[in-house]
Amino acid sequence: MPSKLSLDLPIIGLSPMAGITDFAFRKLCKEFGANYLASEFISATALFYNPDTEKHLSLARFTNEQKPYVIQLFGNEPEHFIEAVKIVTGQKALPNGERMKKPSGIDINFGCPAKKVIKNKSGCALYEDPKTAREIVKAVLNTTDVAVSFKTRIGYKGISALEFLKNFQDLPYHHITMHARTFEQGHKGKTNNELCKEVFDMVKSKFDRKAIFNGGVKNIETYNKAMIETGADGVLIGQAALGNPWIFKSLKEGKDYKPSIEEIKNTVIKHAKYTLQDKENHGLVEFRKHLLWYFRDFPNAKNMRKELMETNTLKEIEAVLKNAV
Ligand SMILES: Cc1cc2nc3c(=O)[nH]c(=O)nc-3n(C[C@H](O)[C@H](O)[C@H](O)COP(=O)(O)O)c2cc1C
Repeated sequence: MPSKLSLDLPIIGLSPMAGITDFAFRKLCKEFGANYLASEFISATALFYNPDTEKHLSLARFTNEQKPYVIQLFGNEPEHFIEAVKIVTGQKALPNGERMKKPSGIDINFGCPAKKVIKNKSGCALYEDPKTAREIVKAVLNTTDVAVSFKTRIGYKGISALEFLKNFQDLPYHHITMHARTFEQGHKGKTNNELCKEVFDMVKSKFDRKAIFNGGVKNIETYNKAMIETGADGVLIGQAALGNPWIFKSLKEGKDYKPSIEEIKNTVIKHAKYTLQDKENHGLVEFRKHLLWYFRDFPNAKNMRKELMETNTLKEIEAVLKNAV
């Protein structure tokens, strides 16, 4: 039986994005209505070899308000996953004696197309090694009682997701997220909703599993289309949430919402404060990309964007925003 995790439907969640969906951004999106959050992907191998790597564990950190929250792992060695799962679910103490809090679930990455990941035969590359992929899923299921899920793609080098996921149909995993684009498409282009529906029909026919759609959802229209065409239980939003946490409010309330400039500025300040709470001052250098996303659609904001790119402190960000129209 899959674990007892119950997800509110429709799921309208934030898709994991390495270097972007950190603690601060997840917290913000949750406040705007996201009801499912995932960590950025974390290397199971890195945790296996070095369990106190602050760099990796800081990616997993969360508070209970962020639940339902899944920690996403990637790798290609079942043994590495076992050790990593023990660490991130708090079964195994860190070298300093502390334990991680138990998340709502562990999500296995079968979808990453990045060269470095594929070279290590992880992410999407596991399509070519279904035996190891199955061993990984079994190992994770046997190591924890939290929900186990996968995030994957509609196809890889001519192998369809339908074929790949048949491999796990008898295993009691909890849900999948389907990025309905192929490996070859990367993060852009048309999704294959027809094939996605076939996959969802198969996945949902067992263990009352949930199936989450992902890919190109950016407003009510694209959300409705994806839900209707695929029979999904919800969606994860990736790129459309950049500089736009209001997307969750829009989808939750069923009408596209356009924030005022004042509201954008206040949200930027709030997001910067959350970043500082999590990462102290160095976080504001990483935060600059968010500043660009918040103001990318303002044709007259070229100077402001340039000034924002030179900010290092909250005070400096506040000063630039105060003077801007
Ligand atoms: C910069 C970036 C980083 C990403 N990192 C991850 C990741 O760590 N784990 C993952 O499963 N997907 C990752 N993705 C894929 C997204 O979660 C999502 O599947 C993809 O962007 C398609 O959704 P969208 O069209 O709503 O953006 C990443 C995408 C981008 C653009």
